[in-house]
Amino acid sequence: MNILILGSGGRESALAWKIAQSPKCDKLFIAPGNAGTPQYGTNVDIKTTDFEGLKEFALKNNIDLVLVGPEEPLVKGIHDFFLADEQLKKIPVIGPQAEGAQLEGSKDFSKAFMQRHHIPAADSQTFTRETLQDGLKYLKTAGLPIVLKADGLAAGKGVLICTTLEEAQYELTEMLDNAKFGDASAKVVIEQFLEGIELSVFVMTDGKNYKILPEAKDYKRIGEGDTGLNTGGMGSVSPVPFADSTFLKKVEERVIIPTIEGLHKENIPYKGFIFIGLMNCKGEPYVIEYNCRMGDPETESVMLRIESDFVDLLEGVAGGNLNTKDLVISDKVAATVMIVSGGYPGDYLKNKAITGAENIHNSNVFHAGTSLKGEEIINTGGRVIAISTLQDNLFNALQQATADASRIYFDGMYFRRDIGFDLL
Ligand code: AMP
Ligand code: GLY
Repeated sequence: MNILILGSGGRESALAWKIAQSPKCDKLFIAPGNAGTPQYGTNVDIKTTDFEGLKEFALKNNIDLVLVGPEEPLVKGIHDFFLADEQLKKIPVIGPQAEGAQLEGSKDFSKAFMQRHHIPAADSQTFTRETLQDGLKYLKTAGLPIVLKADGLAAGKGVLICTTLEEAQYELTEMLDNAKFGDASAKVVIEQFLEGIELSVFVMTDGKNYKILPEAKDYKRIGEGDTGLNTGGMGSVSPVPFADSTFLKKVEERVIIPTIEGLHKENIPYKGFIFIGLMNCKGEPYVIEYNCRMGDPETESVMLRIESDFVDLLEGVAGGNLNTKDLVISDKVAATVMIVSGGYPGDYLKNKAITGAENIHNSNVFHAGTSLKGEEIINTGGRVIAISTLQDNLFNALQQATADASRIYFDGMYFRRDIGFDLL
């Protein structure tokens, strides 16, 4: 079959790498892709939100399946667009329709969903511009630290953890009254701070059946020792040692099953991935957030551990028979180190030539923010290359990924040398 992947990050590189290995995949296209994705398929210069452009391409190229990488086209309704079109509706889209994508697209929606289905999460209340005064009052009684979340998509920047009442009141006013995150902060969820260690759990579902993919831990801060500004993610590890079978059983019973059943009961169709951001609070799971897609840089580690044919699994999602498909997971350890541009997550240095990938033999070099300029590969995004490796144990995986990251060079590059070492 001919498959079209939407997106251009490290996540999409890892998905393309995995899908290209499937005997079921004839032609693979990536729109728009990056400088690394031509190793696995053909790049197509169409934006993920250009639905008309994607339609024309899909019809002309006999696309049999579309896999959506990022959240934006899902929240904007790409799946609904395909279903509403006579010619497109026979092409399965992996990723929920807009309603299901609200699990990520609206924090208020997802909090209310969790409450309705008794899924463990931090206590919260939602405020709007009209109820700002109530929100300011609520903050006085809420305790510290306190978490403010812009309701809508804010490119990963919409969550603020405030440590003083003054800061929280100032930020709430900025978000509601001064549109700090534009429309995304027209509503703000104020949420209790959860103390614990985070991990990401990924579920693949056809709306009824589900498979739990390998879990992963993401490292969000720019600096070593988890210091400095938040980023899109600086590295990942899978499996996560503190997510033992007892903990994962709790996650399945208290979070995954009620989530899938909740969607089903509310008649919200959902064919795709659910990424559950969890806090492990003294052995008890609490949901921090849902995402309607796979994580980045978690996918780069997760894909290395999946031994089964991924296209076969995607067919199960599309066909509603995921229960008949096999998911075999390697018990080896995957680690990913993300190489970023100098200055990221602030303004960063761009258009620098990248060298050294030819010296890496024991890791995957998953491109993210890269482009081709003539013969040269240059950095054009904040997160540039994910180095991902699969080894017999955690120590070897971390050492290999870190050593291989240092084989890449471009002006201003940076990566964390401590990814995963806290887990040893
Ligand atoms: P989100 O955009 O919801 O993933 O939030 C970004 C980050 O903020 C999360 O990955 C957590 O590290 C942190 N965070 C969000 N909600 C909470 C919470 N209730 N308690 C503690 N940390 C949180
Ligand atoms: N790694 C976090 C995310 O993809 O949102």
